[in-house]
Amino acid sequence: MCGIVGYTGKKQAAPILLEGLSKLEYRGYDSAGVAVRNNKGKHEIVKTNGKLSVLSDKLKKGKALKGTCGIGHTRWATHGMPSEVNAHPHSNDDQTIVAVHNGIIENYVELKEKLTSKGYTFYSETDTEIATKLVDYYYKKWKSPLEAMVSFTLRVRGSYAIAVMFEDYPEEIYIARKDSPLIVGVADEGSFVASDVPAILKYTRNVYYVDNMEIARIEKGKATFYNVDRKVIEKQPVKIDWDADAAEKGGYKYYMLKEIREQPRAVTDTLNSLIKDGKIDLSEAGLSDEKLSSFKRIRIAACGSAYHVGMVAKYVIEDLARIPVDVDVASEFRYRSPVYGENELVVVISQSGETADSLEALRGAKAAGVATLAIVNVLGSAIAREADNVIYTKAGPEISVATTKAYSAQLIVSYALAVQLALINGKIDEDRYAQLIDEMLALPASMEKILSDDEWLKWFASKIANKKDVYFIGRGIDYAICLEGSLKLKEISYIHSDAYAAGELKHGHISLIEEGTLVIGLITQMRLAEKAVSNLSEVKTRGAQIMSVTLEGNYSLQEHSEFTFYVPKTEAYFTTSLAVIPLQLLSYYVCVAKGLDVDMPRNLAKCVSVE
Ligand code: M6R
Repeated sequence: MCGIVGYTGKKQAAPILLEGLSKLEYRGYDSAGVAVRNNKGKHEIVKTNGKLSVLSDKLKKGKALKGTCGIGHTRWATHGMPSEVNAHPHSNDDQTIVAVHNGIIENYVELKEKLTSKGYTFYSETDTEIATKLVDYYYKKWKSPLEAMVSFTLRVRGSYAIAVMFEDYPEEIYIARKDSPLIVGVADEGSFVASDVPAILKYTRNVYYVDNMEIARIEKGKATFYNVDRKVIEKQPVKIDWDADAAEKGGYKYYMLKEIREQPRAVTDTLNSLIKDGKIDLSEAGLSDEKLSSFKRIRIAACGSAYHVGMVAKYVIEDLARIPVDVDVASEFRYRSPVYGENELVVVISQSGETADSLEALRGAKAAGVATLAIVNVLGSAIAREADNVIYTKAGPEISVATTKAYSAQLIVSYALAVQLALINGKIDEDRYAQLIDEMLALPASMEKILSDDEWLKWFASKIANKKDVYFIGRGIDYAICLEGSLKLKEISYIHSDAYAAGELKHGHISLIEEGTLVIGLITQMRLAEKAVSNLSEVKTRGAQIMSVTLEGNYSLQEHSEFTFYVPKTEAYFTTSLAVIPLQLLSYYVCVAKGLDVDMPRNLAKCVSVE
């Protein structure tokens, strides 16, 4: 939800800001802008509607704007439609104060009224203009940028990451945050501020995470952090071990295909971090066997694809470890009043670690005194920092809005949790344990095999690209896979799609089937295969065109299915890791066939850090 970059240093700021923003465009891409302090000491602001490339062209890749200190922004609209006037940076009337912001100021109405009564005028529909003018108001009152930022922090409600330049303080950037991510890097070339690590990875791997209600002054080669009591906070940088190339396209046209192809690596790296000497070891996350054995019930809260991982986890943990598992979308969970019993564990799954609803679900569980575990990809993210225990997925930076490799890495963590719980709860013996671990370790090779065989999917995608409706059906774990396949398709191709538990069809949904409707059947759970095949036959009889995904060796679908994709056999619990890949590839190729922007689908952003 919006990307922020700031730079002060020896180099020209505008090209650095544009380059950094290009790494953050996944966070929002409906408009963009930069402000640079020019050699006359004045702030120059340039904004455009549309993607960053429009701004980059207007600025001649940054060469048109001179100056060594600046801030930039790529927007995902919340208050006010995408337009040049609503784009950031915003400023006070004489442009002596300029700001970019990510998040939502909840008390903006009250603040606007107050500022209007003090003579301020507003030109945009944004809460950011209000935030900027609030900083201006406090700056005029206290004559100190630090005091202005402290007053702002204490006065504003909601979530924000804000970066501000004051004309009176050349070569300095002031920042503050609450519930929206903000990091700082100090390197030889200068000092950087950004919403996420990829924006500054080229310059430094040592990153300072700004905490809630903290303020910082960023100068060339220096960053000073303060709390709201104006006390200096000593911070240690965190070393980022991501490969800088991982955040680049590396010859691919779209990140999504690159990330789909990186899944065997993401799974291997995640497995390597969880399995030591042939045993699952979660002690790094603070989950000793003794502690794990104390949990009698698990509740999972997550959003989107991470919620779909939770659905798979429910099936696997309940079946293998015989522990009850509830799964909720985090936006519902946070407003429910779960009736917790003793010895419960709340698991929050999130790639970004910044998803607002997931973060609030975590906070709610903590406030209720329940143990929490986060399964997170981004080091140092809010969810990772606030959870009692954290297991990091090792997917590396994921840029494409449609998640693929992070989803796959989350699955692996949920399998490992299920298998370890099953062992320590005495539900499986050592032999079965070793067998399950071997099956997990074999997954990357099977994934490679699927990835090397995508020509048929490309062909089939071109045939179905004009479909208006596509339905996914499956039973058990296959239903959970359907949920993810359907989301992938609709999210990037804009084809209407839904996923149904196959047994539910006859309770209403089957009335949607007409001549030529595409139904994609998932059949990897062989104990349910016969029933699922019957369901496919029922929709085929009513005119549906059938595609199916099943395991090698299951040829029972040939007479029903126009196109069948076979994935290698694996343990039934782990089939999601394989069966999801053809669905990801199908969505990708449909999107390409339709000529759409794969990585930046309309209306979406990678990180949903607002409610
Ligand atoms: O960062 P998170 O894992 O918390 O994000 C959750 C969802 O927003 C995310 O999975 C979303 O559904 C993806 N764009 C789906 O591809």
